[in-house]
Amino acid sequence: MRGLNMSTAVVTAAMMLTSGAAIAQEQVEVLHWWTSGGEAAALNVLKEDLQAQGIGWLDMPVAGGGGEGAMTVLRARVTAGSPPTAVQMLGFDILDWAAEGSLGNLDEVAAAEGWDAVVPTALQGFAKYDGHWVSAPVNVHSTNWVWANKAILDELGLAQPTTWDEFVAAMQAAKDAGYVGLAHGGQPWQEATMFDSVVIGAGGTDLYKRAFMDLDPAALSSPEMVEAFTRMETLRSFVDDNFSGRDWNLASAMVINKEAAFQIMGDWAKGEFLNAGKVPGTDFLCFRVPGSEGTVTFNADQFAMFNVNEGFRPAQQKMASAIMSPSFQIAFNKVKGSVPARTDVSGDELDACGQQGMAELAAAAEAGTLLGSAAQGHAHPAAVKNAIYDVVTAHFNGEYDAATAAQELAAAVAAAQ
Ligand code: GAL
Repeated sequence: MRGLNMSTAVVTAAMMLTSGAAIAQEQVEVLHWWTSGGEAAALNVLKEDLQAQGIGWLDMPVAGGGGEGAMTVLRARVTAGSPPTAVQMLGFDILDWAAEGSLGNLDEVAAAEGWDAVVPTALQGFAKYDGHWVSAPVNVHSTNWVWANKAILDELGLAQPTTWDEFVAAMQAAKDAGYVGLAHGGQPWQEATMFDSVVIGAGGTDLYKRAFMDLDPAALSSPEMVEAFTRMETLRSFVDDNFSGRDWNLASAMVINKEAAFQIMGDWAKGEFLNAGKVPGTDFLCFRVPGSEGTVTFNADQFAMFNVNEGFRPAQQKMASAIMSPSFQIAFNKVKGSVPARTDVSGDELDACGQQGMAELAAAAEAGTLLGSAAQGHAHPAAVKNAIYDVVTAHFNGEYDAATAAQELAAAVAAAQ
């Protein structure tokens, strides 16, 4: 009997291993940081899309807005020689991983599906390395948005602010009425995300380009940059005492729940409003940070495809194809708060904020004011981005006055290159 049992066990084990290998080929392991309500709802669209194609999803969420934590975990996984199949990634991080030779090649599916003709040049600059497609762009977000609780504005008789001074006055009125003027999560990436548009408001797209694209020390330490830091001090005066360390989606919830009047945040915040059943124009307003109108500081979420064993590549290619399908692009971006990464899909199904975002994206691309978000890794690689984070968050927490902060910013950026 023992012999029979042993041989049965061996055969069973062999069958499991074989089937396991077969299953492995129809499964993707995905590392991402989409853990808030709105983000998870959007991600489910992709999971269900793949499962409908028979592709299993091994979820590897790493909480932490902006993806700092996720990138740390990724480094450990790659160092250990076991990269995930696909990783949510932003801008220059994709190019850095590609330069290390860690990413796969999507040229075959990209050519078969004509990606080059429909993905904006600005996104291709991050999705291709050395002329080869290495990641699939999911969307286009932008950071220079304000999200406002409409009931508070109506209650206080406040019109949508159209200038910086009107915005400040509206935050003051909300604070005087007992509301939090500005909902904010005290994390470096969130302070830097606000700083994107505050810099444009203080010195125009010219200052943003010279400071954050050219890394010009004179621009980084200019009187206009001092004004930008002074404006950050104004914003600091409207946040509540418990802002430090708060996650971005909990700040969005303060506006959703009528505790706070405004939040300056990328349009992933809209995903939280939609997930809470709120309606643009009825429950909340979306508008560009006063002073940044006409400019779009963008960041595109992409799934970078890593070099994995041959057996995983078919599923990886299918995931890339699913991401770029027009139907998925609409279904996902409707929920996520972003706009499609393809230019050939209609925005008819998007809500008013989404359609405004699409129109402004196209106009900014035409006008040369579609600028990579410095905060979201679309202006320079991580070393420079983190140097900006360090100075902006130190200033926001009172370590520097505005004039010193501008000097520190120029020094930190110079040292990071
Ligand atoms: C951004 C990302 C968005 C959203 C946000 C908050 O970097 O592009 O999709 O995840 O972080 O976590």
